[in-house]
Amino acid sequence: MVTGEELLTQLNKSCLPRHVAIIMDGNGRWALARGLKRIFGHQAGMESLREVVKLCVELGIQALTVYAFSTENWKRSRLEINFLMGLLIKYLYQEIDELCTNNVKIKILGDIEKFTPEVQAAIAMAIERSQSNNGLNFNIALNYGGRFEIMEATRVIARKVAAGKLDVEEINEALFAGHLYTAGQPDPDLLIRPAGDYRVSNFLLWQIAYTEFWFTEIKWPDFSRIHFLQALIDFQNRERRFGG
Ligand code: FPP
Repeated sequence: MVTGEELLTQLNKSCLPRHVAIIMDGNGRWALARGLKRIFGHQAGMESLREVVKLCVELGIQALTVYAFSTENWKRSRLEINFLMGLLIKYLYQEIDELCTNNVKIKILGDIEKFTPEVQAAIAMAIERSQSNNGLNFNIALNYGGRFEIMEATRVIARKVAAGKLDVEEINEALFAGHLYTAGQPDPDLLIRPAGDYRVSNFLLWQIAYTEFWFTEIKWPDFSRIHFLQALIDFQNRERRFGG
């Protein structure tokens, strides 16, 4: 089997994606296949996330966005939701020192008002502690939905027009993008989706207009640096024409 070292030699470090987005899918199936409860899949998935963040830092990637909880995930059992929230709190408190040492800046994409005070406090701590970092932009999508994000941006822009602060003719793609959670960040160049499903699931709908997709059957808890490097190498072998 190919090693991470071998893959690193194949990687062109001057031509990396600026922004990588990941739909961390397959945790539940990974656990069930091992006779475990679904929550253990999320626990194992947290380790994959740690490894991927570390690799993004090593490679100097500008932005990483991970889909950690969608607006649809509220339909899951109370037990699973609580477990996911507990995992998020644990992750943020455990990792914040190392993330800051690595100059990682945390940003949340999504509406966190629905979360408990404990979750909101952990998020506020992580944002506050990492706010002056200028290395990897690490975006965690939480209670995130692409349609909701676009609708909210539209609402804010419409209010500005109604208040006479913005002329309709001034609305263009750059202005619209500036009203999204990802304002100021480049659009994802690469979207990775593990676990064998080939869909977008309401993730970054505006931002992925020209994104390259990379799919694998591997479930997220089994996703390692090898897979991430493979995705980057495959990305580098694609010809991007942006409709031209
Ligand atoms: C999708 O797999 C995964 C999620 C809804 C949660 C992702 C969360 C983690 C990886 C935990 C670590 C993250 C943070 C930010 C601490 P699924 O449960 O839908 O899997 P399935 O399709 O096999 O059921």
